[in-house]
Amino acid sequence: MVKVLMVCLGNICRSPLAEGILKSKTFLKDVQVDSAGTSNYHIGSKPDVRSIEVANKNNIDIFDQRGRQFVVSDFDRFDLIYAMDNSNYKNIVALARGDEDKKKVKLILNEIFPGENLDVPDPYTGGIQGFNSVFKMLDEACELISKNIS
Ligand code: 4NP
Repeated sequence: MVKVLMVCLGNICRSPLAEGILKSKTFLKDVQVDSAGTSNYHIGSKPDVRSIEVANKNNIDIFDQRGRQFVVSDFDRFDLIYAMDNSNYKNIVALARGDEDKKKVKLILNEIFPGENLDVPDPYTGGIQGFNSVFKMLDEACELISKNIS
C-alpha cells in the first residue's frame, strides 16, 4: 500500500483536484490518496465550486471532499507528500522532524519537469481558465505518479 498526500494552501482548489485525479488513475491499485492545506482557512469546507466543475467535466467527483489542515502526524501516515508550490513546500518542510520526514516531501510539477521546481499556480483569485490549466498540469503529473507507484 502506497499512501500519497496532496498539499496546497487552502485545500479547496488545487490539492482536492490532485487527490481526485490520482484516485481516478489508481483505483485498481493498492494506493491511498488524501489531501490537506498548510493553512487553517478552509477547514471543513467543500472544494471550490470551480474545482468541482472542472473535475466534473473530466468525469471526476470531488464533491464529498472536505478541507483539513496538514498536521505533523501526516509525516507518519503518508509515504509521499506532494506540495503544489514552493511556498507549500517550505511550509511543510518547516514542520519536518528530521530527514526521514523531509525526504517524503516533493514538488508535484517536478514529476513532469524534473528539477525545475515549478509552481502549480494558485487559481483562487482568477477565473475558470486557471482551473482548467491547473487540471491539465495535475493530470499530467498524476499520470506519471500513477505509473511510478506499483
Ligand atoms: P488552494 O487555493 O491553495 O489551491 O486551495 C487557495 C484557496 C484559498 C485561499 C488561497 C488559495 N485563500 O486565501 O483563502
